[in-house]
Amino acid sequence: MDFDGIFITLPHYEILIMTNNIHTHNDISNLQTHIPQCSGIFVIIDKNISDIYGNPLDFPAIEIIADETTKNMETVSAICEKLLALGADRDCFIVGIGGGVTTDIAGFAASIYKRGVKFGFVPTTLLSQVDAAIGGKNGVNLSGFKNIIGNIRQPLFVYETPLFLKSLSLRVFREGVAEILKTFAIFNPGYFETSAEFFGRINPATMSDSEKMQLADIIAKCAGYKAETVARDEFEKGERRLLNFGHTFAHAIEKYCLDNPEKETLMHGEAVACGMVLAAKVSMALGKCTEETVSKITNAVIKAGLPAVCDIKCSELVGILKTDKKVSGENIHFITPYAIGDIRDELIRLDKLFEIAENI
Ligand SMILES: NC(=O)c1ccc[n+]([C@@H]2O[C@H](COP(=O)([O-])OP(=O)(O)OC[C@H]3O[C@@H](n4cnc5c(N)ncnc54)[C@H](O)[C@@H]3O)[C@@H](O)[C@H]2O)c1
Ligand SMILES: [Zn+2]
Repeated sequence: MDFDGIFITLPHYEILIMTNNIHTHNDISNLQTHIPQCSGIFVIIDKNISDIYGNPLDFPAIEIIADETTKNMETVSAICEKLLALGADRDCFIVGIGGGVTTDIAGFAASIYKRGVKFGFVPTTLLSQVDAAIGGKNGVNLSGFKNIIGNIRQPLFVYETPLFLKSLSLRVFREGVAEILKTFAIFNPGYFETSAEFFGRINPATMSDSEKMQLADIIAKCAGYKAETVARDEFEKGERRLLNFGHTFAHAIEKYCLDNPEKETLMHGEAVACGMVLAAKVSMALGKCTEETVSKITNAVIKAGLPAVCDIKCSELVGILKTDKKVSGENIHFITPYAIGDIRDELIRLDKLFEIAENI
């Protein structure tokens, strides 16, 4: 197939991440050339996208309301029923268009409908372009727990386009910024510094052409790091865990916000930003990084317009961690920053973490 972009080879097949000319695409019709021969193409689209942009592809579309409360098995069942009614058979192809909620749902529905049909994504939020749509984790929430039901099945392509980003609110846009900082903190100290400054001053609704080009470069780089990591460790047995930097505390913060709706709610990216700062503070208390690293992470988060602290005691967050799916026995996989560009996966005793958290 003819394309410019990132080509990831996994043991069982290959995925394209199309990043060619990502700042100049004005429509997504050319993605059809990447859809293999199939019996029919069906679109699963976030209603917020179709309300603003219509259906960008000329194929039957199933609209979904995409939020955490509809990211469940009922929505997956409803999609499968509609596919059935539309006559979708085993050889059909599904395109998911929307943010991470939509791509997680669409990927899951596609991977179980008729025991699995092929699919591709057009992610429309910054977060989904650099993170959620890449890596093949599909799934839905259950009983208030996020992503409890799911699988790992890869899309055939992830079509990156800036077309949709202009309608994102700054707050939703910055959800993706947090994941970008996380990724560069792991893989690229230079981009970590420059992208923090860049994101502090841009707004998706009013970007200049040169800012769009700089954003395109950052998205391509960041999507590439995630894709390459997944190619090396698809099932998260090792290196892929590094991408959870900031997420142990972030998940605890999100759970706390869910359980305390009267308090101010942090969005996922905001929780990741605070989570990276907390992880750095824990790392410093363990003697694994210097104060300079804590400052670098804190300053970058603030520069990028994200919160560096939250109003929840660290010890309370560690209490919540006991329910974290990454906890194995007495220990937790804690992604520990030693320095920017040197982030490691370590097993830490929960009681040790609790002891440290008392003083943070
Ligand atoms: N599969 C993975 O590896 C992975 C990784 C990270 C996150 N996720 C999942 O991704 C989800 C979060 O994704 P998200 O941040 O993209 O959120 P989202 O899909 O909920 O989108 C955020 C909001 O923006 C709206 N929206 C989407 N695109 C828009 C656009 N271009 N213009 C205007 N509004 C738009 C949506 O309708 C929604 O209201 C979570 O459910 C999380 O669990 C999955
Ligand atoms: Zn995340």
